[in-house]
Amino acid sequence: TYQDLRYIYQPARVPAAHTLLLLHGTGGDEYDLLPLASHFGPALNVLSLRGNALENGMPRFFRRLATGHFDEEDVIFRTHELVQFVHLLSEREGFDVSQLVALGYSNGANMAGALLLLYPELLAGAILWRPMQPLVRHVPAFCTNRHQSVLFQPGIEDSLVQLSASACYAALLKQGGFELHRQDANAGHNLLHNDLEAAVAWFYQHF
Ligand code: MLT
Repeated sequence: TYQDLRYIYQPARVPAAHTLLLLHGTGGDEYDLLPLASHFGPALNVLSLRGNALENGMPRFFRRLATGHFDEEDVIFRTHELVQFVHLLSEREGFDVSQLVALGYSNGANMAGALLLLYPELLAGAILWRPMQPLVRHVPAFCTNRHQSVLFQPGIEDSLVQLSASACYAALLKQGGFELHRQDANAGHNLLHNDLEAAVAWFYQHF
């Protein structure tokens, strides 16, 4: 059974095929990324979720262990929960669940990544800002025939993410059938305006 997540849904002002799925970073909420959505044009519905795993009161999309590693059982559980919830919302709000484009930052990028690994055919595309591979011990065998495009934007100075780990993660996504566009940001874990520009350019190229 799933738990309802807090969310905001904004239908496009013109008929829209795609829905931008916004997934915030640790300590954020469903309002965080909302101002960025308008950069992607008016022909998009927007669905923004709030993670329901709390870490010292800070919302996340899945738990971390005391060691700092991801709690992979929890990653799997909450990914299934979120997918069930998104299906429910697609009926309630009337968007096409097969036309979701995820935009995730940090922990939100990692939830988007968990969707790619566990539900490889679900998303129509994904933007991963400062991603880390969400499942390492429990990597599922996965494969997509949709060949969706994934924009992968690590920060080259990110102290949280090893470049070699980013390379492995990118290779894994490619191997599963995603069309990977890697664009390294001259940044740490923080986002730059360039990240948004790259994401918007990628979006207009693919949708
Ligand atoms: C974070 O603090 O959000 C991490 O860098 C990413 C994660 O925990 O998923």
